[in-house]
Amino acid sequence: MNFAVRINPASLDRQALYQAIADQVGTPAFVYDLDKISQHYRDYANALGDGNLLCYAVKANSNLSVLRHLVALGAGFDIVSGGELLRVVRAGGNPAKVVFSGVGKSDAEIRLALDMGIKCFNVESESELRRISRQAVDLGKVAPISIRVNPDVDAQTHPYIATGMKDNKFGIAMDQALACYTLATELSNLRIVGVDCHIGSQLTQLAPFADAFERVLALVDQLAEQGIHLNHVDMGGGLGIAYGNENLPDKASYLALFRETLAARGLQLIIEPGRSLVGDAGVLITEVLCIKDTAEKRFVVLDTAMNDNLRPALYGAKHRISVLQSGCTEPARACELVGPVCESADVIARDQKLALDEGDLLLVHDVGAYGFAMSSNYNARPRAAEVVIAGEAYTVARERESFNDMLKGETLYWNQ
Ligand code: LLP
Repeated sequence: MNFAVRINPASLDRQALYQAIADQVGTPAFVYDLDKISQHYRDYANALGDGNLLCYAVKANSNLSVLRHLVALGAGFDIVSGGELLRVVRAGGNPAKVVFSGVGKSDAEIRLALDMGIKCFNVESESELRRISRQAVDLGKVAPISIRVNPDVDAQTHPYIATGMKDNKFGIAMDQALACYTLATELSNLRIVGVDCHIGSQLTQLAPFADAFERVLALVDQLAEQGIHLNHVDMGGGLGIAYGNENLPDKASYLALFRETLAARGLQLIIEPGRSLVGDAGVLITEVLCIKDTAEKRFVVLDTAMNDNLRPALYGAKHRISVLQSGCTEPARACELVGPVCESADVIARDQKLALDEGDLLLVHDVGAYGFAMSSNYNARPRAAEVVIAGEAYTVARERESFNDMLKGETLYWNQ
């Protein structure tokens, strides 16, 4: 990658680098540390061993430079749309290392994936199985498929991001899985290659993964008895990160749950981590716009809002805050950090005790996953800039959106 800006490499520390980015790129800005992503990738790769595959969940952060970096490290990719597939390919990714998840794949997306020759479709319903078969027949291709099963385990995470319980829309119930595989053997132009499951995100314990694995293995054995032999088992993503002082299992212990058992059966292990690769590699730099004291509390209004990072508003997520630069000489005071968006849910962090003035700079931590990826133009706010850093240098990976970018494709309809 071409790093355009290099600042005082000899003396630079992280804070100075963030400060330089704030000065030169402006705020709000997401900053991703590629070295940290490399470290997480290597931890996974070392524990995975040869022959197994890490498919990074693109939905966590689909910035092209981040994807490019993961391509260079050797990653495969887990995608959930044609758009994500095109991003992966634009970043130089190999479709043969791509698995395609998601409960609703359109004909156009299926055809694109078939044309590009992806590794596997993770199929979530009989209806989808039939649809993929039809498209494969039409294109004269064979579609590699894997059934995503729903093992009905409680991932013990936020209900919005639990996906492996029977009342979730995801996957095929265990007791219907065999029938679904049998259907796959009957439909044309399908090749069964694996089984898949993903039970949720931000898991902080290993037990739910172990439970899911046990159920998946039982199915693998049942399939083998029916003469259906698989190449791989995809255990999805979901390993959490510490947003506060949670104790998280390490990557090696997580992979140890599956690795030897699958190796002994000659099955490839696939995992689809997102957050645990990129989450703590991202910070959001923001500036204090104004300070507002009410009878109830002190509100510190920032130039970042729920349109940049939806997680606090959507899940009540708590992101660590630190002060990057402050000119305030007064003692710290209790305050609530909020954004300018017209919603009371637009709170960046509650119950803070900080000494702040207008113009001060803050960091919102651990926003590398599902931060920019879930951002929007709500309140006609341009999307923030994205910057990547490696070593002591940074480059703008995605420019801040302009007003014209936001108007793209819109027409001024005038009915007179
Ligand atoms: N594979 C599949 C099929 C998934 O649905 C997901 C995430 C992953 C892999 C990656 O999971 P991870 O390793 O990142 O936990 N927006 C929410 C998280 C939604 C996760 C959706 N699926 C958040 O901000 O917490």
